[in-house]
Amino acid sequence: MSNKSFLIKTFGCQMNDRDSEIMGQLLSEDGYIETSETDQADLIILNTCSIRAKAEQKVMSLLGVLRKHKKRNPKLIICVAGCVAQQEGQELIRRMPHVNLVVGTQNIYHIVQLINSLGKHEVATTLVDNYSIPAFIPNLKQHNVGGEPEIFRKFLTIMQGCNNYCSYCVVPFTRGREVSRSVSHIIEEAKSLIKGGVKEITLLGQNVNSYGQTNSVTEPAVPYSFAELLRAVAKIDGLKRLRFTTSNPKDLSDDLMSCFAEIDILCPQFHLPVQSGSNAILTAMHRRYTRELYLEKVTALRKYCPEIALTTDVIVGFPGETDADFEDTMSLLEEVQYHGSYSFKYSDRPGTRSADFENKVDEKIKSERLARFQKRQDEIGLAYNRGYVGKTIPVMIERNEFDKMVGRAETNHLVHFTDLSSCTVAGDIIDATVTHAGQHSLQGKLPGKD
Ligand code: 5AD
Ligand code: SF4
Repeated sequence: MSNKSFLIKTFGCQMNDRDSEIMGQLLSEDGYIETSETDQADLIILNTCSIRAKAEQKVMSLLGVLRKHKKRNPKLIICVAGCVAQQEGQELIRRMPHVNLVVGTQNIYHIVQLINSLGKHEVATTLVDNYSIPAFIPNLKQHNVGGEPEIFRKFLTIMQGCNNYCSYCVVPFTRGREVSRSVSHIIEEAKSLIKGGVKEITLLGQNVNSYGQTNSVTEPAVPYSFAELLRAVAKIDGLKRLRFTTSNPKDLSDDLMSCFAEIDILCPQFHLPVQSGSNAILTAMHRRYTRELYLEKVTALRKYCPEIALTTDVIVGFPGETDADFEDTMSLLEEVQYHGSYSFKYSDRPGTRSADFENKVDEKIKSERLARFQKRQDEIGLAYNRGYVGKTIPVMIERNEFDKMVGRAETNHLVHFTDLSSCTVAGDIIDATVTHAGQHSLQGKLPGKD
C-alpha cells in the first residue's frame, strides 16, 4: 500500500477517458490518492493520443514543461501511457530521459505492478494478437479522474483495437487488432456500475458494429452481435439511458438500426463517421463503403427513429482531394444535415499507408476547406438547436449546485437551467422546456415555470 498522490492528464478519445478511469481506480485501490495539483503529485501519468500530429505535439510540449517539475522534485515519477506511448516506446525515453515509465494501450491494467517494480526506466508496450481485456473487478470503488462527480454516467469498453486499416489511421498500430470482450464480462461490469449508482452507460469500441466477430482467446466465440449485446445490456434493471460509439458505416446492420425503434432507453443519437463525401476519396481512404451506401444507412436510421441526432467525423485535404471531391463533402453535408460534426485537416501519421501517398494537399487549402465546412455545419447545427425551443424534453441532471443546474438531453445536448430545483439530484431525469438555443448547448426551465 502507498499513500502517494497521483495525477492523470488525459488526451484523445473516450477510450482513453475510460482507460484513465481504470488506471485511477487501480491506483486508488493500491492506496494512491488523486490530486489535481501538479506540484503535489508523486506520480504524473499522461494518457496520450496520436491520432493527429497536433495531438502528439501537445503531449510533447507538456512533457517539456514536466522536465522542470522533475528538476525541482527528482522523486517525481513521470509515466506516459496510451497511444503515443504505444507508438514511440523506447524512443520516447531516448528523447525524454526524464520519463520513467512508458505504458502502451494493452498494458494499462498492470499500471500498479509496473510502478511498484520501477527501475530507472521501464517500457511496457508489447502489442499482442491474443490480447484480452481482463474481466473487470466488480466491486472496485468507483473512481472519477478529474474530480467530476459523474458517477451516474459511465463508459464501458466492450472491445479494443481495430482491423479496418483505413489508410490514414494510426489506431490499428496503437491499439492492436480488434478484440471483443465476452458478453458475461460486459454484463457483469454493467451491473456493477449500475449497483454503484450509474444510470447511463455508453458502450465503447473503435468499431462497435463488428462486435462479436473478433473474439478474445480466453472465451469461446462470442455468440452475440452488437445489436444482441445492446438488447441484453438494455434489460439490466436500473439502467435509464444507453448509448454507444463508434460505428463504421460499412458494418452498420439493419438489425442494429432497428434497435432505435425497439429499445426505449437507447438514446436517439448516432455518431456515424463519414470522413468524405467523395467516392474517389473514400476508396483511397479504404473505407469500403460508398457515398450512396452511406446515404442509404442515414435514410434507414431516420426511418427507424425520425428524431435521431446524427453526428459525424470529416477529414478535409486527404491526399489527392480535389476541389470537386471537397464539393462532394459539402453536398453530403447539405443532404444529411448533421446535428453536429468533428472535422479535421488531414495529418500524416507514421506507419499509415496514406503517409506515403504523393499528392498531398497544400496546408492553406486544407485550412480554407475546413473553415468552409465548419461554418456551414455551425449554421445547420444552430438551426437544429433552435428547433428544440418551446419543446419539453427529458433531461438527465448532471450537476445541481447551489447556483447552477446542468443536465443532458437524450440527443447529448447540454442543457443549462435558468431556474433551480431543490428536490432534484444529479442522475435524476426531469422534463425541461427549452427556452433558448446556443451553438453547442440549450437553455431550459422546469415546465410550468415562467
Ligand atoms: N488525419 C486527420 N484526421 C484523422 N482522423 C483519424 N486519423 C486522422 C488523420 N490521419 C479523424 C477521423 C476519425 C477521428 C477520430 O479522427 O475523422 O474518425
Ligand atoms: Fe487517439 Fe485513436 Fe488512441 Fe483514441 S484510440 S487516443 S483517438 S489515437
